[in-house]
Amino acid sequence: MASLTIRKLDDSLKTYLRLRSAQNGRSVEEEVRVILRALTEPADPSEPPSTPLPATLPEPLVPQPGSAREARVTLIIGGGIAAYKSLDLIRRLKERHIHVRCVMTKAATQFVTELAASALSGDRVFTDLFDARSEFDVGHIRLARDCDLIVVAPATADLMAKMAQGHADDLASAILLAASRPILLAPAMNPMMWSNPATRRNAATLQRDGVHMIGPNAGEMAEKGEAGVGRMAEPTEIAEAVVAMLKPPVPRPLAGRRVLITAGPTHEPIDPVRYIANRSSGKQGFAIAAAAQAAGADVRLITGPVELADPKGVRVTHVESARQMLEAVEAELPADVAIFAAAVADWRVANEGGQKLKKTDKAIPPLQLVENPDILATISKLKEKRPDLVIGFAAETEHLIDNAKAKFARKGCDWIVANDVSPATGVMGGDRNTVHLLTKDADGVHVASWPIMTKDEVATALVAEIARTVGQSA
Ligand code: CTP
Repeated sequence: MASLTIRKLDDSLKTYLRLRSAQNGRSVEEEVRVILRALTEPADPSEPPSTPLPATLPEPLVPQPGSAREARVTLIIGGGIAAYKSLDLIRRLKERHIHVRCVMTKAATQFVTELAASALSGDRVFTDLFDARSEFDVGHIRLARDCDLIVVAPATADLMAKMAQGHADDLASAILLAASRPILLAPAMNPMMWSNPATRRNAATLQRDGVHMIGPNAGEMAEKGEAGVGRMAEPTEIAEAVVAMLKPPVPRPLAGRRVLITAGPTHEPIDPVRYIANRSSGKQGFAIAAAAQAAGADVRLITGPVELADPKGVRVTHVESARQMLEAVEAELPADVAIFAAAVADWRVANEGGQKLKKTDKAIPPLQLVENPDILATISKLKEKRPDLVIGFAAETEHLIDNAKAKFARKGCDWIVANDVSPATGVMGGDRNTVHLLTKDADGVHVASWPIMTKDEVATALVAEIARTVGQSA
């Protein structure tokens, strides 16, 4: 009787068999048996039918560390001196409640032992493409599928070259070729190898193919006296990148929308060294800017003088006075949504001193005030370039809802966020806010009173409300 050695089959047939067996949850040998039986025997109704391989495999449900099912990472350890750091990486991943299953290349076993990787991961380590035991209980292609992410650390120049070319002549490269999960590489090699045009080409190919990379970092090499770019990223850096990649994609309901926000107080000069101001901290407006940015919006924040760091990813214009704020707002139009959270000074000094006012024997100088432009009302009443949704704030110290309703009518905006800023509430400068959202439709004005929340929570809730409304009008 002739015997069949799967290892000796040609590559394309082997790949087909691996994919088909993984899809049907069988070992390669079993799959071959099923195929042969199907050719010679009538169909056995007790045998689960083989399903054809779909063109694309379903996206994995990515569980979060700590959730009912642990997130799972297949860690491929390449053969380089940095392999010793991969043992630490296993620990860092386990600390983050991530299950790690290790695959080692033959070369990797020269640097670290299977026993160490197995002890740290708490699972068996896979090294051989045609290991009968792994084929029976796991199946090498399932190593590529039964995980949420594949990490290659260290990713050697050779492993990267094999990946870029689509080789599958050992377990690591076969897994990488059959992978349907995202792949993160942590390259590590001598700086000359990293800068070699062949490696540059391979890295570019892999990035084009959607492979993610972390590092390599610059620093000293294991080789005496050598330094440059080629050190593997530190285990904690890689672990953080893994956690970030395992997170479900953040919804970005405001992607493609421009949101304009004013924040903070304005300073109205009396003379070059003195000004009229108010107690606004800008925290609420900045929190809204950050929340809108997180929701995917293109955020333009125009702020008066505040002691806050600019929110990341937001284009910020710093102004002093109400008139400068209006000018900056107009320069950012058109916008889809405009939120006026600034505490704009109602008045400015009519006769601003060109020089510092001096004390004299004469009477105390009178401060003549004139009204500032109302930015919210100006933008609400625009005929052209009026944002689809204009939101004002009503900061009141008494008769909150009545005053807010009157302001709503006066300003011509679409929504008003009313808040009580009387000193007892601690809202001005504080971290919490109690707001009421005033909206209107054909039936009149509606007031939704929100519970006391942090300013960040108010921002998130407001942005969610905006996303719902703007999304409906899209
Ligand atoms: N606002 C503005 N420009 C101004 C004054 C106010 O854009 N010159 C905006 C604020 O950013 C806020 C809303 O108008 O969104 C209401 O601000 P608020 O200070 O509560 O009301 P005022 O219009 O100033 O009225 P009052 O001071 O009488 O309460």
